[in-house]
Amino acid sequence: MSSLITVDDLTNEEILSILDDAERMLPIARGETHLPILAGKVLANLFFEPSTRTRMSFETAMKRLGGAVLNLGDVANSSVVKGETLYDTMQMMDGYADIAVIRHPRQGAARYSSNAVNIPVINAGDGAGHHPTQTLLDLFTIRTCHGTLEGLNVALVGDLRYGRTVHSLSEALARFGCSLTFISPSSLTMPEEIVTDLRSSGTSITETEDLHGSIEQLDVIYMTRIQKERFPDEDEYQKVAGVFKLNQSDLVSAKKNMIIMHPLPRVDEISPDVDSTVHAKYFEQAFYGVVARMSLLCRLLGVEVPEVVSE
Ligand code: CP
Repeated sequence: MSSLITVDDLTNEEILSILDDAERMLPIARGETHLPILAGKVLANLFFEPSTRTRMSFETAMKRLGGAVLNLGDVANSSVVKGETLYDTMQMMDGYADIAVIRHPRQGAARYSSNAVNIPVINAGDGAGHHPTQTLLDLFTIRTCHGTLEGLNVALVGDLRYGRTVHSLSEALARFGCSLTFISPSSLTMPEEIVTDLRSSGTSITETEDLHGSIEQLDVIYMTRIQKERFPDEDEYQKVAGVFKLNQSDLVSAKKNMIIMHPLPRVDEISPDVDSTVHAKYFEQAFYGVVARMSLLCRLLGVEVPEVVSE
């Protein structure tokens, strides 16, 4: 693997090895141990769309490991506004950095960028396409909470049409033998080509608009935001805004170890009264983004992760 654009760039063995390295780096992410194995390396953070978690956790990951970070910053203050192409911007990164992370509104932009340069490129979200590093931290969270990735019942809820996190995650979960329930309004169902691919690989898929009907059978509920910014038309957004909402009272029949995840940010799809339940894992999940990304950065930069011992 020289770049990470989709989860297809990783074998199951590579995914598990990245998660194993990530687990060993928890003390570094918590600031309990100092291990500057990326000293002298430079990461370019190129975010052409808003981000809090992905951008900042990549920066934290790099800095906790002793590396440095360049940020493109606000696109409005970059030479993109003078008409510089993505290809030319990437040529600069090839000279300035050892590795680049890119988020872009255009599907396919990360693949295009990786083809334009010699340094490794990580897709941090390309339009409604893919978000493979989110998948790594999602899998890390699931494995940490359930002890396995195999054979779980997982519901993916919300905007499955435009939601790049659920596109990447469903493909990965299917490879680990999970059964998937897709819960969305009819206008935001999982793209047909993804459903067809998953079914043809033998994955059990249920599609429904009912969030509350099967909660007691689930091991994971993965909520997502209805993404206003992806709708071509405000009226279409208003028809589905707020359609799914999870409250604490909805969870009485849930298994004790059922976990609720969300890539965040949330709007109103998870009520704050869920935060204090044993099921709520979304903030822990966001923290795990640091170790998942530390592990991936080391892998792509060819740096072996040593055994990590707390100081
Ligand atoms: N989960 C996620 O991608 O969050 P940000 O948009 O804040 O990076």
